[in-house]
Amino acid sequence: MKFPEKLRQKLTNRELSNSLRSLNTSLNGIDFYSNDYLGFAKSTVIFNETHQYLIDSQLKINGATGSRLISGNHKLYEETELLIANFHNTEKALIFNSGYDANLGFFSSVPQRGDIIIYDELCHASIRDGIQLSNAKSYKFKHNDTVHLEKVIKNHIEQISISNSEIYLVTESVFSMDGGSPDLEKIISIAKKYKVRIIIDEAHSLGVFGNKGCGLSQLLNIENDIFARIVTFGKGLGCHGAAILGSKKLYQYLMNFSRSFIYTTGLSPHSIATIQVAYKHLSNDILHTLHKNIDHFLTEIKRLNIDHLFIKSKSTIHCCIISGNEKTIQIAKQLQEKGFNIKPILSPTVAKGKERLRFCLHSYNSTKEITAVLEQLATFV
Ligand SMILES: Cc1ncc(COP(=O)(O)O)c(C=O)c1O
Repeated sequence: MKFPEKLRQKLTNRELSNSLRSLNTSLNGIDFYSNDYLGFAKSTVIFNETHQYLIDSQLKINGATGSRLISGNHKLYEETELLIANFHNTEKALIFNSGYDANLGFFSSVPQRGDIIIYDELCHASIRDGIQLSNAKSYKFKHNDTVHLEKVIKNHIEQISISNSEIYLVTESVFSMDGGSPDLEKIISIAKKYKVRIIIDEAHSLGVFGNKGCGLSQLLNIENDIFARIVTFGKGLGCHGAAILGSKKLYQYLMNFSRSFIYTTGLSPHSIATIQVAYKHLSNDILHTLHKNIDHFLTEIKRLNIDHLFIKSKSTIHCCIISGNEKTIQIAKQLQEKGFNIKPILSPTVAKGKERLRFCLHSYNSTKEITAVLEQLATFV
């Protein structure tokens, strides 16, 4: 049978705009593209400790065997959720199979018909997909623009107070495609003024900011003013899964109503043990090495006079705006040929004209490697 014409056309359009996605196996060069900020994904120490932990706990099973609400809630789950809740200074942590599932599950179930969701226009696809599944109305505000945010809230506050509904506000502590952070303290003060509930996605902040990498909200000491935080384990922790942090009631609510939590097989004991061991390996020493590299990167882009091309960031993600899919692909390819793994970020993933090279920094990059890749880049831009 012929492949549907409309779908074929969509693929052709992608091809014509140089934005057709395809899968490649990992490159062999120097890693400036993975989210493994602390090298935990490659850590044989974590691998071996996890293995030993499973043996010691007599959990020699390969899968969870069912939804957590049926047969899949093995004992490591509760132990690990307690550790996560304590580490993040919150009442409860509920583990989801991925950050995508956590955002989808939260936004599709928590905001109700008549409620309003206000979100940063650059929020991650998983947040926007969750919002689409919700019965609440949603409005975006300009990226990291707290003046516009307040305007959007004011436009809807009257309607909300009459119907006794809620406003939910969602942003990220580090934006995945540009590395920048919002003024979270200002956002908290606006939220308090209008009695808005805040949700913060800390995917790229865990393992990067705060004591032992606990995240930007805890670094700023604002975690108690936040309704829910989403932490994900596929980035700084180098493994897989995510958790929603919040109150006991939120934990109970999500377990009862969040469909991406209920209708899926739980994570295997191995996955949960890896999360637990990874948390125990977070240390200020490794964060210090990571931040030395971030500082070196910032010094070097200034020295090479290319800092104006980069989006402002103090995180592990640094984006150089190139503009145009073709040109961005071409420079990425040239850098890859020199042995540096850099991924071009193209439209439609980012806005047209804002196509970019995304540099991810790690504790295991050397300052020499950072200087070398930036010196190369400076010859191409
Ligand atoms: C901000 C943000 N939230 C959520 C996710 C999804 O997390 P996961 O990869 O665990 O599904 C990502 C990953 O790309 C992300 O960047």
